[in-house]
Amino acid sequence: MPRILVIGAGGQIGSELTYKLRELYGPENVVASDIGYHNTHIVNSGIFEIVDAQDYDSIKTCIDKHEIDTIYLMAAMLSATGEKYPMKAWDLNINSIFHVLNLAKDGFIKQIFWPSSIAVFGPTTPALNTPQHTIAEPTTVYGITKQVGERWCEYYHDKYGVDVRSLRYPGIISWKTMPGGGTTDYAVEIYHKAVLNKHYECFLSENTQLPMMFMEDAINATVKIMQAESNTVKIRSSYNLAALSFTPKDISEAIQKHIPEFKITYKPDFRQNIANSWPKSIDDSSARTDWNWSHNYDLDKMTEEMITQLRNKYKDSTTTN
Ligand code: SER
Repeated sequence: MPRILVIGAGGQIGSELTYKLRELYGPENVVASDIGYHNTHIVNSGIFEIVDAQDYDSIKTCIDKHEIDTIYLMAAMLSATGEKYPMKAWDLNINSIFHVLNLAKDGFIKQIFWPSSIAVFGPTTPALNTPQHTIAEPTTVYGITKQVGERWCEYYHDKYGVDVRSLRYPGIISWKTMPGGGTTDYAVEIYHKAVLNKHYECFLSENTQLPMMFMEDAINATVKIMQAESNTVKIRSSYNLAALSFTPKDISEAIQKHIPEFKITYKPDFRQNIANSWPKSIDDSSARTDWNWSHNYDLDKMTEEMITQLRNKYKDSTTTN
């Protein structure tokens, strides 16, 4: 059994990854950690430690205490917040990956998962079916940090034999924990507003197409690449990963099949420029060939699941309050 530390376990992906890893490897083998106690469910549902991803000693103390051999580094500042706090985004996203890579290089841990993003691409990248290896000139701070991180992951693997594995996540859609500070967050907010208010004002324009994925698929991909035989993980920067590709108009039409009164209006803000710089769809054939990745959820199946789960969630919260 691996001994796992999830850093950033209070976040949108970190929380669901923690639940899945506990299911697979036993709650006693998975330590959740974050900078604070904001996600009470994560704090109260198993072993939890305060860890500052920017502080090497904070991570090292935790891995010594719990005899950790595997780290999932999920702490990051995303694209929209990163544009507001460029130096903070750089410090968090870069210091944290260096600490974890150095812990592996020095033999304290055996395996690392670190997410990259579609944000590594930029306006000069071919936007349709973006290849694995292509022009990548990111124009956001977030994208720059992910691209730099990818280069260092590959470098540490090639030079020091560090077993680091990475995926370029598209926008991730889920109902348990809200995302924070991303450009793709609209595709989560829209479901909450559809169920609660039957209206959503979208901060991207109606034909802005972006690559997306349902959380369950993202978690499966993460577990799959971490469980794959090392020699099948041929790319040690980060793998393209794809499932869906849709516009705000497409998702609103999928919602209207369940909630016909639902209305969407558009008021693009600074996040439109970020979205315009990213791919519309992704070619992930390397992941599909190298370690047999495949996705399960299309837009309609995801929409049905999101609406069902959110209706339950809000029904429960109105009956218990
Ligand atoms: N979801 C991220 C963002 O919007 C992209 O990886 O910033």
